[in-house]
Amino acid sequence: MIDRKMSKESFETQRTEVLKSWPTGADVDFDAAVALQRAIPEEKNFAAAMKKADAEGRTLLQPRAGVALVDEHIRLLKYLETEGEADLLPTTIDAYTRQNRYTEAAKGIEKSQAAGTSLLNGFPAVNHGVAECRRVTEAVSKPVQVRHGTPDARLLAEITLAAGFTAFEGGGISYNIPYAKNVPLRSSIQYWKYVDRLVGLYEEAGVRINREPFGPLTGTLVPPCVSHAVAILEGLLALEQGVVSLTLGYGQCGNLIQDVAAIISLRNLARTYFSEAGFEHVELTTVFHQWMGGFPEDEAKAFGVISWGSVAGRLAGATKIIVKSPHEAMGIPTKEANAQGLRTSRQIVNMLSDQGMLDSQAVQREVALIERETRAILEGAFALSSGRDPEEAAVRAFEAGIIDVPFAPSNQNQGKILPMRDNEGYVRIFKAGSLPLPQDVLDFHRERLEDRAKAEGRLVSLRMVTDDIYAIGKGRLVGRPL
Ligand code: 5AD
Repeated sequence: MIDRKMSKESFETQRTEVLKSWPTGADVDFDAAVALQRAIPEEKNFAAAMKKADAEGRTLLQPRAGVALVDEHIRLLKYLETEGEADLLPTTIDAYTRQNRYTEAAKGIEKSQAAGTSLLNGFPAVNHGVAECRRVTEAVSKPVQVRHGTPDARLLAEITLAAGFTAFEGGGISYNIPYAKNVPLRSSIQYWKYVDRLVGLYEEAGVRINREPFGPLTGTLVPPCVSHAVAILEGLLALEQGVVSLTLGYGQCGNLIQDVAAIISLRNLARTYFSEAGFEHVELTTVFHQWMGGFPEDEAKAFGVISWGSVAGRLAGATKIIVKSPHEAMGIPTKEANAQGLRTSRQIVNMLSDQGMLDSQAVQREVALIERETRAILEGAFALSSGRDPEEAAVRAFEAGIIDVPFAPSNQNQGKILPMRDNEGYVRIFKAGSLPLPQDVLDFHRERLEDRAKAEGRLVSLRMVTDDIYAIGKGRLVGRPL
């Protein structure tokens, strides 16, 4: 096994610079951070909670939430914990911090203080610094994760992990391609190597931090094979740096069979690829994201979408579900709406908890298809690297369009792929771009799309893609003509 761990010297050199990049970085003291983390009770450690849920076959529920000011953020999290019955808590970071624009985040904090309400779309953890962030993790009784969308999250990771957060979302691919226009993929992968190495250092000091690449990518009709290929590469990159607790994700597509098959295949593929790469001792868990695309404005209909996501996530046996709120179409939810999304999901997950997982021939057929597709993409990517290096494979695969994420803003992505639903609502591939899928698989996708075209009395066309993007928001799954 090739050791690709970032060297101590390289890490320390970067660390000095990272901690100097904003004044609050000076408060990070790794030894004090380890002592703080070691004193956190087991039930507040994210990795331990995921491991336990996996062992017990339970599905945990987690919302998204973040506001500008510390006390308001604490109130919000406590509300989601008590009124929302959340198992796991988030801290969603604001857009300025995600782009390392701390001066603007500072203005947002000032204006929020003056206005007495949050004027940022998340919690600016870097500006608040270690001691203030620590108040957040100490105020709640559930494990808390940092959720964001940051290509360079090195300082954010240093500060939040030093403040007692026990999980950190993101990755060098999944927090670049869907979030940034022109950050080189090689750069974001380097930044995330630092984050993963930091988590590895905590691990070596006896502190287990959970890592979760962002599974849904653009959240818009992403075929499972594309997001799985990215998840496995990011998983390998994390494991190489010493990460042990790893949660791989997938965003709901909407067809129940496909969604269940996606989580099953993700787990199978990850286990195989990780053990083939020499990583036997991974605490692998999964996360299912309720629908990430456009939502209906009608709250009653939004609850329908939320419920359907809970059904799929639970029947797939995901370790946790990330929950949406009935305010999704409007923007950031109130704490009440957020808790409603959680309680709706809770009811469904509870009612399904004794019914086991969904399995059928149709599920198995779809699992086999997704596994073949994902393998074809991953093997195409690895063929471009030497020694199956996931970093080289990822960078070259994106350049060549061997991995291609639909509707991504990044200029690092070819953007030639076009997905579309078939007649039963499965997400299929209309234009494959340079994805190296076997011919019979491409033919199968085409046949399924032709079936739909026939049923709708129109030709397979770009119009169907746009119809599909808006369909759930308009109360359907497949974007049929009126
Ligand atoms: N609070 C709650 N939800 C948030 N989201 C983004 N920021 C916040 C926040 N501060 C949610 C959006 C969308 C998803 C990408 O994240 O509503 O569902």
